[in-house]
Amino acid sequence: MSLRLGDTVPDFEAITTEGPIKFYDYLGNGWGVLFSHPADYTPVCTTELGRTALLKEEFAKRNVKVLAVSVDPLDKHLGWRNDINETQNCTVDFPIIADEEKIVANLYDMIHPNASATATVRSLFVIGPDKLLKLSLTYPASTGRNFYEVLRVIDSLQLTAKYGVATPADWKNGEDVIVVPATTTEDAIKKFEKGVNVIKPYLRYTPQPDI
Ligand code: BEZ
Repeated sequence: MSLRLGDTVPDFEAITTEGPIKFYDYLGNGWGVLFSHPADYTPVCTTELGRTALLKEEFAKRNVKVLAVSVDPLDKHLGWRNDINETQNCTVDFPIIADEEKIVANLYDMIHPNASATATVRSLFVIGPDKLLKLSLTYPASTGRNFYEVLRVIDSLQLTAKYGVATPADWKNGEDVIVVPATTTEDAIKKFEKGVNVIKPYLRYTPQPDI
C-alpha cells in the first residue's frame, strides 16, 4: 500500500554513491527529501539532480538532507554523476541510491506499473524529524519537478511545526501566514504579537512569525 501523509516512513539500508547508508541514521534528527527518478543518463533527471546539487545551501539552511534513488547500478550512477557535474555546473555530493533490487522502490511504492513496469516514477517525499511523511509528490517521467516549490513547501511545513500556522495559496517566504482554524481569534491575538488581521472569523492573517 502506498504511504499516506502522517505515516511513519520505512527505514532501509542501501548502497549509494556516498557509500552504504542506513536511512534513519542518515537523516538524524533533521528533515529529509527522498526522491526517485526513472533512469540514469536521461535528460530530465540530469537537470533535476543538478538543480538539487545547486540548491545544496538552501536545503542545508533548512536542516534537510536529500537522497535520490533509481533502480540502476552503482557504477552507472557514478559515471552519470560525472556527466551531471559537467553539464549542470555543479557537484552532486548527496547520495544516489543504487536500488537494483528495487527494495526502496517497493517500500515507497515508486513503481507505477501502468506508467512503467520497471522504472521508478518521479516520486518525492518530505520527511519530518519525527520520521513522519509530511508531503508526497508524484510526477510523470516527462516532467521535471520544481525544486524551488519543494523548498517553499518545506518552509511552510517548518512554520507549521514551529508556530502552528498555515500558509495561503501561492505563499512565499516573508508573506503573511494564516491562523489555523483550531486557534481562536482571542488566543491568536495573545499568541501572535505582530497582530492578527481578521477578514472573516475563519480567515485570519498574521505576519510571518520568524522574521
Ligand atoms: C528523462 O529523465 O529525461 C526522461 C525519462 C523518461 C521519459 C522521458 C524523460
